[in-house]
Amino acid sequence: MLKYITIIGSGAIGSLWAYYLQQAGFIVTVVGRQCHNNPIELTVILPNQQQKKITLNYLNQQLPSHSDLVIVATKAYQVSAAISPWLTQLIQTPIMLMHNGMGCVEQLPLNKIQPILLATTSHGGLKTSISGLSHTGVGQTFIGVYQGMAQEQGQLICQALNRALPQVAFSASIAKTLWTKLAINCAINPLTALAQCRNGELIGHQHQQVINDVHQEVILVATALNIGLDDKILRENINDVIHKTANNYSSMHQDIVNKRLTEIDFITGYLIKQAEKLAIAVPTNQRLYQQIKQLETKIPSQ
Ligand code: PAF
Repeated sequence: MLKYITIIGSGAIGSLWAYYLQQAGFIVTVVGRQCHNNPIELTVILPNQQQKKITLNYLNQQLPSHSDLVIVATKAYQVSAAISPWLTQLIQTPIMLMHNGMGCVEQLPLNKIQPILLATTSHGGLKTSISGLSHTGVGQTFIGVYQGMAQEQGQLICQALNRALPQVAFSASIAKTLWTKLAINCAINPLTALAQCRNGELIGHQHQQVINDVHQEVILVATALNIGLDDKILRENINDVIHKTANNYSSMHQDIVNKRLTEIDFITGYLIKQAEKLAIAVPTNQRLYQQIKQLETKIPSQ
């Protein structure tokens, strides 16, 4: 039975899950780099603008003595450092990676028996302060098994999380789900960061050609990898997310504005790496990648 859930990462997505899981009756601990070892009262603004208060347990870079599930909800570039030191200790504990982009799981020194789930969520969250969180957009979460556990066990975890923050759906082809999200992020994130605009402004005529080119390049690479993405459905998915998150600033836009590293290496950078292995040209994604990398050079070292 799933009761004790540890969340590594105290940013917007980690805090969002911590809030909803604790409200649903799970015993939650949040582990973070900037956390102190004591409870913090979190004020949460829900999508209907209701304000809720909750007291969450935090630990500074140490795990509680027992976890039935560990959710890693850090930025993509922090995943490896955040979970690798704990892998031997957690050899039988399911670990779920929930981040933007792809490629993190391949960086982990995994034992084959380590149960790993991959997840992607489209919920929008904004951490307004150490104790302030806003649930800015209701989304969906998809979970799939990567290794070390039966699909049925993955489905049970999925059902438990669905009680806390629906909709959580189990994906039998998580690679396809992650590639769809990768394509959405390749289209929205660099463009909004460069144009310094909300997602909705991408509906404008001047961005359509670039979005089409990004989309076509993703399709070329995904097709060569047999991911099974449908050209037309993917374009609809991209447009759908742009419309549904029209008022939001993308995570990459927020990273650049707040002078933080972006997840470009795990989004566009991941696509480019796969394309290079297959000798497929992805010039539009290359250009966007270089432009974001150029912006990152202006960020003081972290
Ligand atoms: O990274 C983000 O901001 C989000 O994944 C998305 C879907 C682009 C919406 O803003």
